[in-house]
Amino acid sequence: MMTPRPIAICILAASLCWCARNVTAQNAAPADEHAPAAPPFSGGGAGTFPTRPNSPQAALDRGKALYKTNCAYCHGEDARGGENGGNNLLRSDYLMKDKVGEVLSSFLQTTISAEHKFSFTNGQVADLAAFIHDFRVNSRDPGRMRPPTILVGDAKAGQAYFQAKCAACHSATGDLKGIATRISDPRNLQQTWLMPMLVNTRPGGGPADGPASNVPRVTVTVTQSDGQKVEGRLGRIDDFFLTLTQADGTSRSFRRDGETPKVEVHDPMKPHKDLLPGYSDADIHNLTAYLVTFK
Ligand code: HEC
Ligand code: HEC
Repeated sequence: MMTPRPIAICILAASLCWCARNVTAQNAAPADEHAPAAPPFSGGGAGTFPTRPNSPQAALDRGKALYKTNCAYCHGEDARGGENGGNNLLRSDYLMKDKVGEVLSSFLQTTISAEHKFSFTNGQVADLAAFIHDFRVNSRDPGRMRPPTILVGDAKAGQAYFQAKCAACHSATGDLKGIATRISDPRNLQQTWLMPMLVNTRPGGGPADGPASNVPRVTVTVTQSDGQKVEGRLGRIDDFFLTLTQADGTSRSFRRDGETPKVEVHDPMKPHKDLLPGYSDADIHNLTAYLVTFK
């Protein structure tokens, strides 16, 4: 159903689409600023943002870390929209209606868009929601808060971190050689090493041809009761249902009943997902500063 090229086109379409949205947003901006006197973030009345109880700092910190690594790339550092097609989350209906992550959670679980293949726990989504809600309350400055460059780290410290955390699987002179040439925008490069899963240009293990990433998708093996195995790229999965796309492009779906059929999900990005919670802001900046030297 989804071949690599449509995905690339899809993302391209999303960014074009964002341009269109952005134009609209710019046109709309003055109207917002001249809106009648209601205090902008006090909540309650029509047209204002609902307020929510303050969340504990620890939850906000966890939410911030999750947001930065998983959402900022597309929805912007300040959640007001970004260049990779993500819209303004502060004005999103989902977040407006959301209180403690419940609406966001159902969006993330039910959306079919390729950008949102996350598997967060409810607690993580609650933290994410807390962070986004807090943003809305605290970001009084209508201007964008995007830093001009993300290259603020120390490449030497990044190298040491790389040796410790990444060198078991990657090398500057081997598989990652030239990655900074291939992905010349540091922001995209940073997203690629943080979460190398956004664009799948290499489903069958062939050479990469896309600019963003060459990472395989999540695959799944279903073992049917007669022992026959069916393998493919994972589509949708829940407790009762599973879809996959086989190498020849045909889709299969399976009803699930407890352990039948047996399902093994192989996520090629598991090592990266496991590393995510451990990165500090400094680690992220330092590593990116180091990786941009991989010309
Ligand atoms: C690869 C880019 C990308 C990433 C990463 C991404 N999104 Fe999105 N998101 C989009 C695009 C594009 C849309 C608009 C199309 C759609 O609804 O799928 C969107 C829409 C949404 C919407 C619906 C907004 C509305 O009002 O329709 C929510 C909510 C959302 N994203 C939350 C998140 C959260 C939370 C994260 C991080 C955990 C995230 N997204 C990560 C690209 C992305
Ligand atoms: C346990 C092994 C493992 C570790 C540790 C690991 N990665 Fe990866 N990484 C992978 C796999 C598997 C892929 C996807 C396959 C591929 O394209 O090479 C990948 C993909 C990538 C990519 C995308 C490569 C491309 O060509 O688009 C980058 C960049 C990357 N990793 C950087 C890092 C960094 C930086 C660290 C350390 C913080 C790290 N990785 C730690 C296994 C690992």
